[in-house]
Amino acid sequence: MAKTEKSAADPAASDKTGSPVDPEGIPEDIEVLASLSPDFVADPYTAFRRLRERGPVHRVLGPDRGVVWLVVGYEAAREAFVSPRLSRDWHREYRQPGWTPPYALNMLGNANMLMSDPPHHTRLRKLVAQEFTARRVEGMRRRVQEITDELLDGMTKDGARSADLIEAFASPLPMIVISELLGVPDLDRAAFHAWSNETLAPTSPEAEREAYEQIMPYLAGLIADKRENPGEDLLSALVHTADEGGDRLTGDELVSLAFLLLVAGHETTVNLLGNAVRALFAHPGQLAAVRADPAGLAAGLVEETLRYDGPVVTTTPRIALEETEIAGVRVPRGAIVLIAMAAADHDPERFPDPEHFDVRRGDARSNVSFGHGVHFCLGAPLARLEGEVALRTLLERCPELAEDGEPGEWLPGMLIRGRRTLPVRW
Ligand code: HEM
Repeated sequence: MAKTEKSAADPAASDKTGSPVDPEGIPEDIEVLASLSPDFVADPYTAFRRLRERGPVHRVLGPDRGVVWLVVGYEAAREAFVSPRLSRDWHREYRQPGWTPPYALNMLGNANMLMSDPPHHTRLRKLVAQEFTARRVEGMRRRVQEITDELLDGMTKDGARSADLIEAFASPLPMIVISELLGVPDLDRAAFHAWSNETLAPTSPEAEREAYEQIMPYLAGLIADKRENPGEDLLSALVHTADEGGDRLTGDELVSLAFLLLVAGHETTVNLLGNAVRALFAHPGQLAAVRADPAGLAAGLVEETLRYDGPVVTTTPRIALEETEIAGVRVPRGAIVLIAMAAADHDPERFPDPEHFDVRRGDARSNVSFGHGVHFCLGAPLARLEGEVALRTLLERCPELAEDGEPGEWLPGMLIRGRRTLPVRW
């Protein structure tokens, strides 16, 4: 099994998310996810269901061989998301023996909002939310449509009848959208993709370090440029924004934020699109329904995909600052807690018949795929907009869309869910 994916947006989500485990012996009281579902990455849902049937919170050994407390029930997940005892700031308390902070943690500090707790988090989020508004996102609608159309023109050019949907469409779309939104139109997408892959799933510590050493100065240079030559873009706005008391984001905070937005704005949406299309292929009745009414059912398709097979399996890890309880289960101080949205969103107590994929499901929008509480995904409105425009237009332009052979391998780990490639024909 490959290592857990690590997000530079979240360096703490490293291959050492949990306490290190002695390879000689796994303590008897620990559930091993791989034994509950032999190919856990391909099918985490079976393991989650088996655990959930026995209770909402479990101490488990994940595919990264780290021991974590995994929250699998819907109500328990919502409780954990808002617990002030579960921290996202790894500098604060995490002092377990044998754990060395990943390089990225030192590099990014707690300057980024996903790696901080209130009140620090409140300050960062307020400054960002003041510029990353619903209005700015809605203002992107026309451009998202144009980018979608251009990518589909390219994909279907010269009578082409087949492509890898990830490479031709699902990956470039969110990358172009987020880079235009931030004001990085000339972003070297191939280089950025390679760097971001290296920070998410490093091939070696040296390669990881090298990626950070390239990307951080690049972003710092970009921010310096926005300071001198501001445009209409989000990054320029963030460089210049101040709250009513005159508080501003520092240089480090801006670099860390730009990095978070670029990574979080890309990897997730790619797999929302890919997972939606795969779910349709696996459910021909649903595919026929969406084909017959793409405009009417695109929003439902996005919500049901988020619930049924969302792109983010578990949260970034939290640490228990003190002994606490989640859904009545005692969690000791220092425990690493992962909330499994993919499990919570299949909880039959919340979603009847959860293994049934239904784009018309009335309450799919109450999924926790974007999280909950103070760290609720800042980009959710943008991701929903991109998903709706992209999937509707794809099915309008390619009504005969069908699988064209086996999809590529699964992305490794417990963070992001999706296939590397998705061959399609139309
Ligand atoms: C389908 C696509 C997406 C999914 C499923 C998703 C999921 C999530 C989740 C689960 C969290 C909370 C993590 C936690 O509590 O540990 C989160 C946070 C965040 N997401 Fe997203 N995300 C998506 C797209 C985006 C996009 C497009 C952007 C930016 C443009 C974005 C920016 C962020 C940011 C900045 C945070 C941190 C918020 C905070 O700490 O206050 N996300 N996302």
